[in-house]
Amino acid sequence: MQNNIQQILERNPIIPVVTIQNEKDIERVHQQLSVRSIRCIEITLRTDYAFEAISEFKKRFGDQYDVGVGTIVNLDQIRKCVDLKVDFMVSPALSPTLAQHLEHSGTPFIPGVATPGEILKGMELGWRYFKFFPANLFGGLDALNAYRSVFSEVKFCPTGGINESNFSEYLALDNVVSVGGTWLIQ
Ligand code: 3PG
Repeated sequence: MQNNIQQILERNPIIPVVTIQNEKDIERVHQQLSVRSIRCIEITLRTDYAFEAISEFKKRFGDQYDVGVGTIVNLDQIRKCVDLKVDFMVSPALSPTLAQHLEHSGTPFIPGVATPGEILKGMELGWRYFKFFPANLFGGLDALNAYRSVFSEVKFCPTGGINESNFSEYLALDNVVSVGGTWLIQ
């Protein structure tokens, strides 16, 4: 399912969402993650340097991390991720076009949802793992508790407003497999 995203999420309860601006950032990010024994990174597509950053991070540290890519919204980005052999892909939302290409990529992926209708659309595609985004703006812990009773098979990776003081509360929910966010890397 979802090209085996389950394994990636289960072995990485914390997924740092990182925007890399230039080559100098790469070593610093690796240092900050290794201090916390984090072995996963989601590099966002929010700078012109992003694909080079992904390629460089993989070249230098690919054997130590699951290297994922975030902010995926179109087919061209999916193609580049496949070419770079990234370990997983994260999109902020799902759409029929994106769904088809994510599934056919062969790369593990997790799409974003926020509402019950979006969760149901994803479930109709056979998916069970979703990024709950932006978690803090769509009900946070209360929403996840409500979703648990209705969508009992679904697991979430909440992101958006997760931080040092609330991440363990999210992880304690049994429908939360991992959490993501930018708070880990400054
Ligand atoms: C994401 O892309 O997942 C979010 O931008 C993370 O949100 P945060 O900055 O509130 O952690």
